[in-house]
Amino acid sequence: MTATLETFSKELEAVTTTAALRELRSKYTGKKGILTEQLKKLPALAPHERAAFGKQINDDKVYIEERLKEYEKQLISKEIKAKLSSAPLDITLPGCYKKPGGRHPVTIVLAEITDIFVSMGFTIEEGPEVESDYYNFEALNIPRNHPARDMQDTFYIETTDDGQSGDNSFVLRTHTSPVQIRVMQDRRPPLRFIAPGKVYRCDSDISHSPMFHQVEGLVVDRNISFSNLKGLLEGFLKKVFGPEVPVRLRPSFFPFTEPSAEVDMGCYFCKGSGCRVCKGTGWIEIMGAGMVDPRVFRNVGYDTDTYSGFAFGMGIERIASLKYGIDDIRLYYEGDLRFLRQF
Ligand code: PHE
Repeated sequence: MTATLETFSKELEAVTTTAALRELRSKYTGKKGILTEQLKKLPALAPHERAAFGKQINDDKVYIEERLKEYEKQLISKEIKAKLSSAPLDITLPGCYKKPGGRHPVTIVLAEITDIFVSMGFTIEEGPEVESDYYNFEALNIPRNHPARDMQDTFYIETTDDGQSGDNSFVLRTHTSPVQIRVMQDRRPPLRFIAPGKVYRCDSDISHSPMFHQVEGLVVDRNISFSNLKGLLEGFLKKVFGPEVPVRLRPSFFPFTEPSAEVDMGCYFCKGSGCRVCKGTGWIEIMGAGMVDPRVFRNVGYDTDTYSGFAFGMGIERIASLKYGIDDIRLYYEGDLRFLRQF
């Protein structure tokens, strides 16, 4: 037995815990261990001595590892036995049950909306939430003095890169419509996509939140007509709210669509007889839509003689509220588990 093995054996006898065993293992076989140090002496030896010396170290290593493994097994079972007898396990104690988390209602409804449009061949697009004035307004034909630009509705971001504050050229997007422009600038028709995401408006009460979610939709191709828009939206709403739900379109105005429409569906709560939610009308406004205004096409260089298209935009919280009967939009953002666990 080599001197190394003799000291090792003595040291092993003194070991009583697995932690100490681990230390001993690294002391001998670790990167900076005794055996590694011995190997470093190898190059200094005369060539005919090297083989025997190397083999000796290797044999020691095999022996050491074997004994450590063997001893470790004994220690582990000893430690388990000690633990079991010192702290008796009361298997009658109640367990601590952790309620699983769930998906947020906005997430659930967005997934449902996405599924429906993807099944109809739509792709999903995204755009930035900090948006330039150009994409959020200008390119969408929203003129400088349009009320939608009013400070009351729009969160302006002051840009200071030129050392000056108050340059209102960036905003938190007030709708998902700027994604229309970004995608059209990048690609040629045919286009068929939805663009979900967060939008921001300086507004807060029981039915308005400074941040909420919209889904934008855009279809551009040859021969796209208003009846295509109507058919698509009716089909969509019947998938979400059931095949019986009545849908109607009312003339409306958006600077980036012409003609424009407000889409209503029959009140989900009173089934059209009139209630508090629909303010007695039997109808609930669910989204804005229309044929893409030729000015918008010109802004992205699309030929208005060749292409036509329609766009629509809806609020996700609004759809979720109707589906689940939620009457206060603030519930979505408070993180109250009593609310969230119901979905
Ligand atoms: N962007 C409009 C809004 O936020 C909705 C809309 C989208 C209307 C697309 C028409 C076409 O109110």
